[in-house]
Amino acid sequence: MPAYAVLGAQWGDEGKGKIIDVLARDADIVARFSGGNNAGHTVVNDEGVFSFHLIPCGVFWPQTLNVIGNGVVLDPDVFLEEVDGLKEQGHDVSDRLLVSERAHIVMPYHVVLDELTEKARGSDAIGTTGKGIGPTYADKAARTGIRAADLLDVEALLPRLENIVNHTNKIITAVYDGTPVSMTDIFDKCRDWSERLGPFIAPVERIVYEYLEAGRNVLLEGAQGALLDLDHGTYPFVTSSNPTIGGACVGLGIHPNYISNIIGVFKAYSTRVGSGPFPTELTDETGERIRNLAQEFGVTTGRARRVGWFDAVAAKFSTQVNGYTSAVLTRLDVLDGFDSIMVCTAYELDGERTEEFPGGVAALERCKPILEEMKGWTSPTAGATDFSKLPKEAVAYVQRIQELIGCPIDVISTGPHRDEVIRVREVIGV
Ligand code: IMP
Repeated sequence: MPAYAVLGAQWGDEGKGKIIDVLARDADIVARFSGGNNAGHTVVNDEGVFSFHLIPCGVFWPQTLNVIGNGVVLDPDVFLEEVDGLKEQGHDVSDRLLVSERAHIVMPYHVVLDELTEKARGSDAIGTTGKGIGPTYADKAARTGIRAADLLDVEALLPRLENIVNHTNKIITAVYDGTPVSMTDIFDKCRDWSERLGPFIAPVERIVYEYLEAGRNVLLEGAQGALLDLDHGTYPFVTSSNPTIGGACVGLGIHPNYISNIIGVFKAYSTRVGSGPFPTELTDETGERIRNLAQEFGVTTGRARRVGWFDAVAAKFSTQVNGYTSAVLTRLDVLDGFDSIMVCTAYELDGERTEEFPGGVAALERCKPILEEMKGWTSPTAGATDFSKLPKEAVAYVQRIQELIGCPIDVISTGPHRDEVIRVREVIGV
């Protein structure tokens, strides 16, 4: 069972990029399975600081094949720009990078629709990243999407594309009073993509299957997080895909029997970008302090992230949905120097204590966090690589979170660099 899923356990931005880079040392394939360039994954290693939106974070390990699965929505311009950017920095990864022929393409009109629908939502806006993700998944479900394989024969695609563009332009103009997109420009783009993206397009599901059958290690790289899941997240303030474990199977065409470890990545506190309920949110100086210390600003949009204490109610719900066998705790070092640190262990909802994470957004908005105070630590954890050398209060904090989420914390990240990590227990190839 050689597949290992690395999933965002909160609202995204848990530091998955760094963890994937660390764990990819032992991987043969690193595979993205959901989302698109709404994701922003950062890798810091001896070569520099890299931000990826689409390219899987395993590329710095030369033995890895990096693939984009059918569950991803791919903006070819962003993908090709990332590939070229890496090449300019001396990392030509083109021969180790593949895109599924079944992956859906983010078309220029999807980006237009994302902006127009957000504007039309007014005060109910979701705060999307504006990258066209929702409209692309909507077209996929409506069976009016364009897939990577379609770009391999653009002449055959033409009549269907004309229909789709005509229909979309009616929506853009009649519903949103927007400017129609140009069919000629879009078709020219498709021709260009056919040439430049074409060499990357491959039967990814079959290749991943062959690796799995051969017992080689496949790392499934999650994007976003469980609480942004289209079904299980804080709907409607969610993304349009399933970043949870089921999404990993569907988004790569693999069956659950292959998965031997489900690794949840939790940040030592909470953040969320965009609108939606956030029970432990800190809108005071403490929140500002964490945001500035941790530089909690979006990799994709530059937006300031909302910050709050660790929410064990939400975390347990995330564990319930994903069945983590292992957890990673990131950004422990950000909490260095705090006198006390709070953990939310339950909510008060309409005067009653509850440990349930409500399914309805209105109820979640009414939840007030019940906080447990823990003693902070004065000596730094930043850069630590040895669990036994952590301050005893930091150990107590890690152990309390472990107890609350109900699964072992096997890896702790203590800084942005690849080497700033405590490996309590190996999680890949075990
Ligand atoms: P969309 O995915 O661009 O449609 O955005 C929907 C919601 O998910 C918004 O609240 C975004 O801020 C949030 N979101 C999408 N991708 C990420 C991510 O990678 N990290 C954190 N939040 C995200």
